[in-house]
Amino acid sequence: MMLILGIETSCDETAAAVLEDGCRIRSNVIASQVAIHAPYGGIVPELASRRQVEAICPVVQEALAQAGVGFQDLSAIAVTAGPGLVGSLLVGVSLAKALAYALQLPLVAVNHLEGHIHAVFLEHPELEPPFVALVASGGHTHLYAVEDFLRYRLLGRTRDDAAGEAFDKVAKLLGLGYPGGPTIEKVAQGGDPKAVHFPRAFLGDSSFDFSFSGLKTAVLHYVRKQGKSGKLDVGSQGSDPQTQPFTPQFLADICASFQQAIVEMLVKTTVRAAVRIGAIRIVLAGGVACNQALRRSIEEQAQEEGIEVFFPSPFLCTDNAAMIAAAGWRRILSGERASLDLNASADLPLSSG
Ligand code: KG4
Ligand code: ZN
Repeated sequence: MMLILGIETSCDETAAAVLEDGCRIRSNVIASQVAIHAPYGGIVPELASRRQVEAICPVVQEALAQAGVGFQDLSAIAVTAGPGLVGSLLVGVSLAKALAYALQLPLVAVNHLEGHIHAVFLEHPELEPPFVALVASGGHTHLYAVEDFLRYRLLGRTRDDAAGEAFDKVAKLLGLGYPGGPTIEKVAQGGDPKAVHFPRAFLGDSSFDFSFSGLKTAVLHYVRKQGKSGKLDVGSQGSDPQTQPFTPQFLADICASFQQAIVEMLVKTTVRAAVRIGAIRIVLAGGVACNQALRRSIEEQAQEEGIEVFFPSPFLCTDNAAMIAAAGWRRILSGERASLDLNASADLPLSSG
């Protein structure tokens, strides 16, 4: 039996998990910092790294306790080495190196985006590459051809905001609080996705890149034009429903129309990429993959092309350490080891392609 301790501290979540033989999650502990960053409408890096230092040891201990194992039972340690906030990453990397040294265990470095992709194998152990993977989160929107379990070719990426960032920024300008994705999805349920036609950016037939900043600006301009302004400064912190300047229907229509636009951009480009390279499977990963409208839409459009879509359960789409342990397990099996001079890298690439 191989027990891998996964450690993930790339951003604002402190996470540790124990994974048995690559796909049995024995524990998956996450300490969220949402309450700390919510008043700022986004993540404050200095606050994030300070909280990582405070939370990491209790979180690892809790992961071991919930798994019913001790340090002596572990077979290896997998840690996120990047990309992410460097101050946050260093907390996990430092602890992982200290544990590997003290316990004389193999250490392996995992790319955070690779972790998001490998989350899908936890619930679909039968799934095998090749496939196209869309990783859409608060910090990244990357489209990969996954050619083998550990071989990724970049097909396209966002040229400006990440998809989750667009959800978060639009939520902030609408006074809906942080994180924006889940709230926008909820509010959108009562709205008409055809109420406002926001622009969709498609960057040409030969490109699989994305761009979301124009959409975000279009929402801002539309709301201002409606004369409902007053609290529309992007720097405002209007998350208090008491001071909400919009009628519920106006808000619901904006959210539904914005969500429709972003889903359409993600789905069309991803399905087009899969068709272009002849892939018959698509994997959706990252926090934005929690979005039900996105899941339904990509399933529908992929099905028309004879393509099957796989996504992790929502709790495995957002940041967690089980996905890091899953990717780490593959790397350990392939014989890879990180040395004790492993460093964190804020912009660690997953592939050069
Ligand atoms: O993967 P994740 O937990 O962290 C990063 O690596 O960034 O993703 C967080 C992002 C946030 O921007 C959040 O607003 C977005 O995922 N998100 C969603 C939903 N749930 C989370 N976006 C759209 N719809 C959702 N249901
Ligand atoms: Zn993430």
